[in-house]
Amino acid sequence: MHDIRIEQDLQHTATNCYRELKQITGQKTLLTGCGGFLGFFMSNLFAYWNNNHNEKIICTLQDNFMRGTPKWIDGFHSDHIKFELHDVLSNYDRFDFHNIIHAASVASPTFYRKFPIETMDANVIGLRNLLENQLLFQNKKRNLHTRFLFFSSSEIYGDPVPEFIPTKETYWGNVSCTGPRACYDESKRYGETLCYNFANVKNMHIVIARPFNNYGPGLKLDDGRVISDFAKSIKRNKTIQIFSDGGPTRTFCYISDAIAGYIKILVNGKAGESYNIGTDKPEISMLELAKMMKNMVEDMTTVKVSIKKEISKDKEYLTHNPNRRCPDITKAKLNLNYSPSVSLEEGLKKTLEWYGVF
Ligand SMILES: NC(=O)c1ccc[n+]([C@@H]2O[C@H](COP(=O)([O-])OP(=O)(O)OC[C@H]3O[C@@H](n4cnc5c(N)ncnc54)[C@H](O)[C@@H]3O)[C@@H](O)[C@H]2O)c1
Repeated sequence: MHDIRIEQDLQHTATNCYRELKQITGQKTLLTGCGGFLGFFMSNLFAYWNNNHNEKIICTLQDNFMRGTPKWIDGFHSDHIKFELHDVLSNYDRFDFHNIIHAASVASPTFYRKFPIETMDANVIGLRNLLENQLLFQNKKRNLHTRFLFFSSSEIYGDPVPEFIPTKETYWGNVSCTGPRACYDESKRYGETLCYNFANVKNMHIVIARPFNNYGPGLKLDDGRVISDFAKSIKRNKTIQIFSDGGPTRTFCYISDAIAGYIKILVNGKAGESYNIGTDKPEISMLELAKMMKNMVEDMTTVKVSIKKEISKDKEYLTHNPNRRCPDITKAKLNLNYSPSVSLEEGLKKTLEWYGVF
């Protein structure tokens, strides 16, 4: 069963990447990190597809549930979709997947700073484990064409210098190898290097996604990423707390657009290549985002929301936090026909509804 609260969004994504989803029907697909934000939407997309088509996507969904088992997973099993409690660092007794989507890795800065070693392990040792298993399977099947999608991050660019914003895939990055964010940024960078070399040396079809600030249903309220954080504080205190001067800017990409982009990379991405997935406008400051969310809640309800700038109790909260982040998405648009279309207003409204703010 899929989550009917996001039916419209699932339909949007399935329509957008219909041809690509059709190509993976009848094949076995492994999704790691299914219990997370992107995993929630992707698992629901596969279930939605299977409910509406005769040719099924055969999925194994795995997670170690290090942050707890989400409720939606109860009763999600079906003939073609099964869950496994599995850590990507562990051995695999059986490995026969045509498609691997490796999304297991803590993504929230709040949580990867709590679990830095686990974060690096999922992106380096876990990734290597999956690549080796995939190589064995591919060789056993006499060079069967398999696909492997690694989730990297926009964080591999670090804090880009102004002339490289909007940032293209060719930018090398401005990143620290130590400090509170390095466990994430550097392990994603090394993960990409692993993928690039396995693709070239072992002749494997490995592609890389670099997500830029996705948001929407499925992002846990206590996740620590900005939109869920603002929604949580509106729900709890009718207040939005900003733990900066409000100046850093981001662009935000709604989940239904982003997931279509990832499926397009999986199926049509070029081996060894990386693709930015996000939106290139509007690039807005955290203060502007707070004002937008405040106005939206005040328009839709009788609640009055205040905005407060505060200093986080976490002394490292802003250390190495990129000042501006905005992708250049030309490569995915031209080569993969990626075309995000959900406006920030529309996406925020759906997200706040999903959080029960209104
Ligand atoms: N959502 C975004 O905007 C965004 C941005 C940049 C990168 N990414 C990347 O996309 C992927 C998915 O992101 P998300 O937002 O869903 O993250 P998330 O933190 O919501 O979910 C990650 C999931 O991975 C699982 N996990 C962690 N280590 C594991 C392990 N060793 N074995 C098995 N499962 C493990 C966690 O339990 C969790 O359910 C991650 O690789 C992340 O770094 C996401």
